[in-house]
Formats: sequence, structure tokens, C-alpha cells
Amino acid sequence: MPAIQGLLNSVLIALALASQAAAIPSAPYSHATHHRRTLGRRGFQIETYNPPSSFETYGEGLIQAASFAPGGLDTDARTYVSSKLKVDSSTVEFRSGFSTANARHAYVRQRYNGIPFANAVANVAFKDNKVVTFGSSFVKPTKIADSKPTIDWKSVLPNIEEQLEGKYNNHPTSLEYLARPDGTAALTHVVQIQNEDVNSWYEAFIDAHSGELLSITDFTADAAYRVLPIQKQDLRDGLELLIDPYDPLSSPDGWHFTGGANTTNTSGNNVIAYKGTQSSVTSQSAADQVFDYTYNTANAPATGSNIDAARTNAFYIINRIHDFAYRYGFTEAGFNFQADNFNKGGKAGDRVLMSVQDSSGTNNANFATPPDGQSGTCRMYIWTTTSPNRDGSLENDIIVHEMTHGITNRLTGGGTARCLQTTESGGMGEGWSDAMAEWTEQKSEVIKDYVLGDYVTNNPGGIRTKPYSTSKTVNPQTYATVKGLTSVHRVGEIWANVLHNVYAALVAQYGWSPTSLTNPEGAEGNIVYIHLFIDALALQPCNPTFPQARDAWIQADVNRYGGVNKCLLWKVFASRGLGVNAKSFVDDSSVPTDCN
Ligand SMILES: *[C@@H]1O[C@H](CO)[C@@H](O)[C@H](O)[C@H]1NC(C)=O
Ligand SMILES: *[C@@H]1O[C@H](CO)[C@@H](O)[C@H](O)[C@H]1NC(C)=O
Ligand SMILES: [Zn+2]
Repeated sequence: MPAIQGLLNSVLIALALASQAAAIPSAPYSHATHHRRTLGRRGFQIETYNPPSSFETYGEGLIQAASFAPGGLDTDARTYVSSKLKVDSSTVEFRSGFSTANARHAYVRQRYNGIPFANAVANVAFKDNKVVTFGSSFVKPTKIADSKPTIDWKSVLPNIEEQLEGKYNNHPTSLEYLARPDGTAALTHVVQIQNEDVNSWYEAFIDAHSGELLSITDFTADAAYRVLPIQKQDLRDGLELLIDPYDPLSSPDGWHFTGGANTTNTSGNNVIAYKGTQSSVTSQSAADQVFDYTYNTANAPATGSNIDAARTNAFYIINRIHDFAYRYGFTEAGFNFQADNFNKGGKAGDRVLMSVQDSSGTNNANFATPPDGQSGTCRMYIWTTTSPNRDGSLENDIIVHEMTHGITNRLTGGGTARCLQTTESGGMGEGWSDAMAEWTEQKSEVIKDYVLGDYVTNNPGGIRTKPYSTSKTVNPQTYATVKGLTSVHRVGEIWANVLHNVYAALVAQYGWSPTSLTNPEGAEGNIVYIHLFIDALALQPCNPTFPQARDAWIQADVNRYGGVNKCLLWKVFASRGLGVNAKSFVDDSSVPTDCN
């Protein structure tokens, strides 16, 4: 990251302050911009702030001015953003981007005196050189801190480490501006603080003039929960021996290739699955890649071959997700997780670290998503309600839920892992994770209510308050339900239920394909759904709201399908309160006039 940063800074012309005007009043707490967190054993409290994102979608796209000459993604994005926001192009820094058959995506950030803003970013998508979406959280600060630090981060590190109950992890630090809720911009040292024992991983934003801890990025998404072929839900559905399940397009060297050779253990280019330490993998004797372990439910998870069955399933599921998500756009250039990126773009060196039966917790699981180039870490825990205990690694929906955190955090905002940090966007993060778990487990066009985590909890109701359902009796929750909720998992339930309804409508309209995991070309509803799901992530702005995430789905449909599903999508969203005029958690059931 630092090397690339230096390069960009020296290529770009320097340093003029954008036309800065209107003062922004101090922002009150809002789901869309704030998140209150209580951290560590001592209960340290911090409220993080991200400026609101605007988001515009342009259907068929904006015709560019006659003077517009396509000059590469970097130039096109900076030209568009600076003219749209009426700021000098030197204040717009290209950060990342990637192209798919449907759109070119660029992620930029605001810059002042050569120093980038952490939380003032913009994203623009082009289709055939026309702009189709634009999201921005650029700010006009009332006051900008001097760009020369007066405090060395090392001098305050012990204090920061104590507050966050962790240690600096030696990841290179950076100097970035941070937009504050009072309308000012602070200069901050950005330092990663990790605690392996309690499984925390933060970016600390330390004021470079006062030494004060101003904000954090929390890379970990916890699940508050109450794996087998990926279509199966849990151990009760039965383990099967699958032969060569890897997808040769997504993983061209298979699942075991790493460091120039094939392993005979649960480590490879996409993931290493282990217990305790990374040396504790499941290994076969010479040249054998048959991981054939039975699970004895009469024994505890860590006993006998149960642990090998757990590592094997966890290894399989993470790889399986890697492979199908790749087919739908979560590629090297799209900021995915791989040790070797085969020179196909993005940053390498970041396969998933999958810790099974992790000893740092029970009755849960989590996934920490750092930026592209640093490994995502998934921790699966033992569940203690039953005797013997049950293992989260034998419930596929939990693993899929966790891995989807990696996908959504990387695809939203261009690989920074900083763009699902508010209560509202973090809540949708939980929702996408539940919805993806549900999508992978479908076996036919029959739409059933969906419950997550019922095996590990031995509770038919699972770990959410209600099943996901098309029935308003079974699940009456709407957009307005979000108001007053502070738990990201509760907020996530509303979004996951909206997506359950979108899925049901698309499958009712277009039927269901049994080969959706490997064939993204089909016209069936489950394929259309997952295309829009993934496409929309890359289009939506940093820290999106529910209406913005909805708009990204509708635009994704224009980009990929020419908008044929516009009214279908609007009707479903509107049926759950996310109609045209939905705002501030007030339901609206209206649809565009041409959809009536
Ligand atoms: C590694 O395994 C893959 C998948 O089975 C195979 O295609 C590839 O040839 C192997 N590579 C080496 C170097 O053995
Ligand atoms: C897994 O296998 C590879 C290749 O044989 C080996 O280099 C690596 O050390 C093994 N990993 C562990 C943790 O044993
Ligand atoms: Zn989660």
C-alpha cells in the first residue's frame, strides 16, 4: 500500500484546496453516519463517524460533455468527480478500480495538501463511457488541521494500545485526514491495533496534533448466532465424499496449490484451515489428497476425527464460496482473497485464515476483513447448548454468513474494508451474509421460509428473531422497523428479509437453475438475483443507506439486463416499505408511475 501510494502522489499534480464553502453543522447521531461501539473487557466506548454519502443512479447513463475524451479509468474518474463536485482535480485521488463486462468501477478519495481523506470518498461507475452511478461522501471542512504532524504516533502508541486492548501489528502506518462530525477535518495517524486473544482488529485514527484517539475502523464483524455440499445446511443433512469439487475457471491450479507446489493438507491459494496455529492443519500422507473423515456425533467436536472433519468442511466451504463468487465478479481485480493473484490485478498475499474450533470464544463466529492485500480471518467457535457440544464448522450457513462479510466489505468502496462501518450499512452487512447463506442452500424453485443457525443452537427458530419469509404474518418487518434498532444483527434481519422477497419474486418470474454455482450465464431467477446482489455491491456508495442499496440493485439491473426487472424490483422493495419516497425509516409503498 505505501509503495503504490507514493507512486500515485508523485504522478498526480499537487495540491490546491478545493473551493471550500458552506459550514456543515455538527451532525447528530444517525444510523447512516454513526456507530456507537463498546470495546474490550474494560468497556471503552467510542462513537465513530462517517460523512453521509450521496448516491445518484443514471439508468442508461449520462452523456459526457463534448470535451470528454476517455483516458483510462483513473483519469476518467478524476475528471468526472472534480467536475461534478466542482473541485480541483488535484483534490481527487484515484485509489482503486476494476472492470467487468458490464461496468468500469473507480474508487477515489478526497485529498488536501497531498494527504488523502480516510472517510471522504467517492465512487463512479461507467458503462460504455457513460456514467451510470455516482456516490460521494466528499466534505467541505470548516477547518482543516495543519498537514504537518506535531505528534509522533509512536509516542502515544502505548496509550492507544491500552485503550483498544491490543498491540500494534507492524502493518505500515499512514497519514490521513479524517472528516469529523463537527464539520472540521483532523489530521490522523492510522495505525492497526490487533489482539489475537480476544480477536479484535482495528484501525486507530490518532490525532496527529493532540495524540487523541478520534475514531476506529472495526475490521471484525461478529455474528450473534444461536457446515457437506454447500447446498446442505448442516451435519444432519449428511457428509458426502465429493471428488475434485474445485472450479477450474476460478481456481486454475486447484485448491491446494501454494508456493509453487500442491499441498496435501488443508491449505492452498484461497484459504488455510487450521486449529490453534497455522501449523495445525489436516494433512494426508505423501501425494494423497483424500480428506475422508467421518464425524461421530456422540463425541465432542475436538475428539477423534471430528476435528479433521471440521477442518475439511471449513476448507471446502471457503474454497467453494471463493469459486462461485469469482464467477459472479469477486475476482482478483475485484479485491478478493488469494495468496497468488496470477497477475490478474488486485493485491495478492491475502488468502483467508480459517481458524476452526477457535479457543477465543463460544456460541458465535466472526470474520475480520482488512483491506485488499491483508488476509481475512475467520474464527469458528464451538456451540455449548447441547451435549456433546456442536461445531459451527459443520453448519454451512454460518461459514457462508462469515465469508460473505469478506465479500461485502471488499466490494463496497473498492477494497478498503472501511465502507460498512455505520449502524445502517453494517446492519445490511449482516443481512447480505444471511441472504447469501440462504441463496447457497436452495435446492429447487420452491420458496420456503429460511432459518439460520438452528443446528448449532438446537433451536428450530435459529438465531434470528423471525424466519425470512414472503409471508407478512411470519415476518412482518419493514424498513420502518429499523428505526430504534441499534444492533447490526437486528437491522440485518430487515434487509435479509427484503432480499428473501426479491429472490422469491425473481424465481417466480424466471424459474430456478440447479447449476447457478458454476454457470452464471443462465436466465433463471436465482442467477439473476445473485448477479444483481454482487453487481450492486460494487456500485453502491461508501456506508450506504437502505434506499441507496436499493437504488444500486435497480441500477445493476439496468447495467446488466437493460432494466427489464425495474418494476419487479420496485414492487418488492415497496412491499417492505422501501418505495420511491422511503426515507429516514418511514415506510413508503409507492413505485415509479410507469410501474403502476
Ligand atoms: C496441482 O493440482 C492441480 C489440480 O489438481 C493440477 O491441475 C496441477 O497440475 C497440480 N500442479 C502441480 C505442480 O502438481
Ligand atoms: C502443507 O503442505 C505444504 C506442502 O507440502 C507444506 O509446505 C506446508 O508446510 C504444510 N503445512 C503445514 C502447516 O503442515
Ligand atoms: Zn455477521
